[in-house]
Amino acid sequence: MHLATGITLLYLLAAVLFIVGLHQLSSPRHARTGNLVAAGGALIAFLTTLLVLHHSPLNLILMAVAIVIGVPIGAVAARAVRMTAMPQMVASFNGVGGGAAALVAIVEFLGRPAGSSVPLVVSISVVFAVVIGATSFAGSGIAYAKLQELMRGTPITYPGQQPVNGAVAAAIILLGVLVVVSGIGVAGLWLLLLLALVLGVAFVLPIGGADMPVVISLLNAFTGLAVAGDGFVLGNPVLIVGGTLVGASGTFLTMMMSEAMGRSIGNLLFGAFGKIQAGPEATAASQRNVRSSSAEDVGTLLAYSRRVVIVPGYGLAVAQAQHAARDLADALEKRGITVDYAIHPVAGRMPGHMNVLLAEANVPYEQLKDMEEINDTFKSTDVALVVGANDVVNPAARNSPGSPIYGMPILNADEAKNIVFMKRSMRPGFAGIDNELMYDPKTIMLFGDAKDSLTKLVAAVRAA
Ligand code: TAP
Repeated sequence: MHLATGITLLYLLAAVLFIVGLHQLSSPRHARTGNLVAAGGALIAFLTTLLVLHHSPLNLILMAVAIVIGVPIGAVAARAVRMTAMPQMVASFNGVGGGAAALVAIVEFLGRPAGSSVPLVVSISVVFAVVIGATSFAGSGIAYAKLQELMRGTPITYPGQQPVNGAVAAAIILLGVLVVVSGIGVAGLWLLLLLALVLGVAFVLPIGGADMPVVISLLNAFTGLAVAGDGFVLGNPVLIVGGTLVGASGTFLTMMMSEAMGRSIGNLLFGAFGKIQAGPEATAASQRNVRSSSAEDVGTLLAYSRRVVIVPGYGLAVAQAQHAARDLADALEKRGITVDYAIHPVAGRMPGHMNVLLAEANVPYEQLKDMEEINDTFKSTDVALVVGANDVVNPAARNSPGSPIYGMPILNADEAKNIVFMKRSMRPGFAGIDNELMYDPKTIMLFGDAKDSLTKLVAAVRAA
């Protein structure tokens, strides 16, 4: 077979593996395999690129240097980073990808033979990859710094911010068009890169740490599109397919996350959500009485139930209590009690956070129920056990038009016969607002770290 045909077929195979892997990621049952399949595709694409470059020792050396530096960093980071710090890790990897896409476009342009004319599709792709890639690089850097608490995490706003950002965006569009129609000038490209970096910073500054995972998902889509742009510049099909897949899936993920939070993307990106503080209503409410109980009493309540629904949230991840939750479910099931897990799409701090945690504890997939599937069953549930969750069961989302979470679909835990909140204090969750459900007569508070409390509950259920 001709080498060029072999290379095209290998790239095609890599692209097919990306698509199959991505498809498998949509279900927790196949997500692990999907990851491996897509990684296999990336490996094939990488080895094929080595084949393409076999006549260019300098490129091979540069790739070897990149591998020697990059692989240990990636491997160590993937193992060492805590699950709750995953959004900032994604931000940093994503930002580097965007920056690389911008630089590849510039380098490719600089390396063209002197005096050669640049086809329109290539010049548009170069401008696109530079602008989108650099915006993603700078924006992801700010997102990382905010999430890692290297800078203030709340929205940073100043008078006239939106018009200034709008002016920078308009200048980029104008310069981009000029660069394309007047034949690409190197100086124009560097200026575009600079303006895009400014836009990336300015775009993310006014967004609160709380909304950062959604922004990261959007920036992820940006990086994908910049890489697809590089694909057109280099004439590389696997970059076009891979980049487009990342761009499309990142865009869908962003839309799904904002929908699950009950907010429009515009409001999320330009509404400075994290600025919202607990108002006087919340302060007054937090001085009210609640009914708290001991692990022994809650254990007895659980042991004599017929159906229990565990509602996991961010606190489960903080406490690393997934194995203890599974132990409790096992102890209850041994007594013939039905146990399910109610998974809210934005419980935790990143998409699929609860699924990943519970999969780690080998919770059977059939017990993980989506919000739509489980919401009608709370009425016939004896105990809704809310483990480190708060906003995702807050009825203010339904009942208080002024609330920052108003409109967010929630789990109907309030419809259960009994509600047990397991958390350390009366502190609010991510949205910074009080939760009326904690004051409901049907609610019992079980204060303490989720892992400790769950371990005590397991003992109490076994003893009952
Ligand atoms: P939250 O509303 O953030 O509540 C988590 C609760 O966990 C807190 O009230 C906290 O109370 C408790 N907690 C913390 N550490 C704990 C521990 N060690 N043991 C026991 N409890 C502990 O969580 P949620 O219900 O999962 O809601 C998620 C929120 O994040 C939503 O507002 C959502 O919009 C937002 N968000 C999610 C995403 C994604 S993609 N998942 C992205 C951006 C924003 P104490 O401090 O009293 O213990």
